[in-house]
Amino acid sequence: MLYSKEVMDHFENPRNIGKMADADGIGEVGNAKCGDIMKMYIKVENDIIVDVKFNTFGCGSAIATSSMATEMIKGKPISEALELSNKAVVEALGGLPPAKLHCSVLAEEAVKAAIKDYYDKNGIAYDAEQFCDGNCAACHAHDHEHAHGHAEEE
Ligand code: FES
Repeated sequence: MLYSKEVMDHFENPRNIGKMADADGIGEVGNAKCGDIMKMYIKVENDIIVDVKFNTFGCGSAIATSSMATEMIKGKPISEALELSNKAVVEALGGLPPAKLHCSVLAEEAVKAAIKDYYDKNGIAYDAEQFCDGNCAACHAHDHEHAHGHAEEE
């Protein structure tokens, strides 16, 4: 079977799906590869992500990875959420077909964008390098599935 049981479960019963009216940070990112969009909302208290929601125009794999990503960051300190890589999310889901790895990047980037928005709104200083600026070339220097996901397709 192409998709793991976990992927199917998170696709069919996505956790934390929806919008959040009183979010402390909102991240919206687009996938250059397919044009899909992901929006992530976080609620922060004392540096802890106490609630998170997402909604997406993405495919099933984007839904499943975002659902898993929200579960993995909920209740966690921001510092831990920032370290969540799409690779860890994919592993937690029992893998994704190589052609769908790029979908998982959307989840990672949306989490980071929401945290960046929270930092910006609250005047919290941060190292700009930990956030995606839409410049994929810069990411090729980093150790995550970005370069991979793109390069392995087609
Ligand atoms: Fe666009 Fe999966 S095909 S996010």
